[in-house]
Amino acid sequence: MKIAVMGTGYVGLVAGTCFAELGNHVTCIDVNQDKIDKLKEGIIPIYEPGLDTLVKRNVAQNRLHFTTQAPDAIRDAKVVFIAVGTPQSHDGSADLKYVCAVAETIGEYLTVEDAIVVCKSTVPIGTNERVRSIVAERSKVAFHIVSNPEFLKEGAAIQDFMKPDRIVVGSESDHAVAVMDSLYGPLVRTGAPIIHMDVASAEMTKYAANSMLATRISFMNEIANLCSAVGADVSQVRRGMGTDRRIGKHFLFPGVGYGGSCFPKDVRALRKTARAYGAGMRILDSVDEVNEAQKMRIVTQVVSRYGDDLSNMHFGIWGLAFKAQTDDMREAPSLVIINALLERGATVSAFDPQARETAHEELGESIQYANNVYDAAEGADALLVVTDWAEFRHPDMDRVLGLMKESPSLFDGRNLYDPEGMRAKGFAYYSIGRGANPTK
Ligand SMILES: NC(=O)c1ccc[n+]([C@@H]2O[C@H](COP(=O)([O-])OP(=O)(O)OC[C@H]3O[C@@H](n4cnc5c(N)ncnc54)[C@H](O)[C@@H]3O)[C@@H](O)[C@H]2O)c1
Repeated sequence: MKIAVMGTGYVGLVAGTCFAELGNHVTCIDVNQDKIDKLKEGIIPIYEPGLDTLVKRNVAQNRLHFTTQAPDAIRDAKVVFIAVGTPQSHDGSADLKYVCAVAETIGEYLTVEDAIVVCKSTVPIGTNERVRSIVAERSKVAFHIVSNPEFLKEGAAIQDFMKPDRIVVGSESDHAVAVMDSLYGPLVRTGAPIIHMDVASAEMTKYAANSMLATRISFMNEIANLCSAVGADVSQVRRGMGTDRRIGKHFLFPGVGYGGSCFPKDVRALRKTARAYGAGMRILDSVDEVNEAQKMRIVTQVVSRYGDDLSNMHFGIWGLAFKAQTDDMREAPSLVIINALLERGATVSAFDPQARETAHEELGESIQYANNVYDAAEGADALLVVTDWAEFRHPDMDRVLGLMKESPSLFDGRNLYDPEGMRAKGFAYYSIGRGANPTK
């Protein structure tokens, strides 16, 4: 099948590459010339495990192409995916300018009769109808609209795309549904369902799913904070509650708050939609508020130990990306934490296995960028663990201790280490919700 994917970011590049891997002929389009040039040279502009090999294989097989020239790609395509960004606008709603711009281009150049325009971007209820009317104003051929929200996670995007829990297809067109079923057929042979529904419900499903996951995180962060206050251990509580099948064990890890390109903006966009329809989303108001506070939790711990003036103090940071296995810095809690330390006069040296470049775009020269965990710890009064990269789990902590200043502190924002073990080594050890933290 000939497919065009508009927007070659995390979602567009992964989806386009995976569709090519299934034997389709895919052209990925982007307005970012630099990104397309890199891809043409075989350089993958994002870090996503396994993507490099898959892109190279499909380019070599002549099934995957990259271009900035939308018209050619759209003219040929039977299915055109919209996978451009829908960032948060100033009032909290989803900014649809990129979606509307590509809808105009699609309408202009759609040529294949009964082509299918599929919105993969996360968009508020009613957006697909807006896309339909934008395309209809321009298109000379009949076309069909599908809402097909994407559920992949950065860091495991290929696996999620190739082995989805489910695929949601929202459309009123039998023809479009049949084409989508055939496109996704190879991915659901082991039984994952393709769930058919109306367009508005598909749009809503994506927001509801992300908001539920964000809610679980904020809920557990509040439980963790209470655990600290009452002297309970949230890790034990998590196991005790997560084994209940009605609750399930995923997304119950407390930490430094959620970030990334989806949860924060999607929670806010759904709150905005609710307000626009005169319906409150008080739970999500709190989810957002709790999350903002949680990003400062570790800073509060630092201030409780060292006071508000951190001048002449040096901090090591492990982890900059918003989570492990990605280089994505969008809404990363590390940004809030680092800026709070800098504002209080501290100096910072940070290490992230993948996000050095993307972090530099946000933080510039305001911090030092370390080459590994040990460099980041060298000469530090305190170490903050912000992202749970696997390589942070078992470093040589005696070496780390030896590199740091006397009486160092370890602020473990991801609960990676054994509190007793770390205290026995000589760290003043702080965690998120595993018993009382040091008082000073
Ligand atoms: N990143 C995720 O984990 C994830 C997961 C599920 C859903 N989503 C949703 O998918 C959508 C895309 O997210 P992303 O993270 O891939 O975004 P991204 O910012 O990584 O990529 C978007 C791309 O679209 C390009 N673009 C903008 N205007 C264009 C135009 N007119 N023509 C062609 N390309 C254009 C940009 O240059 C950019 O490369 C968003 O709605 C997001 O909420 C993201």
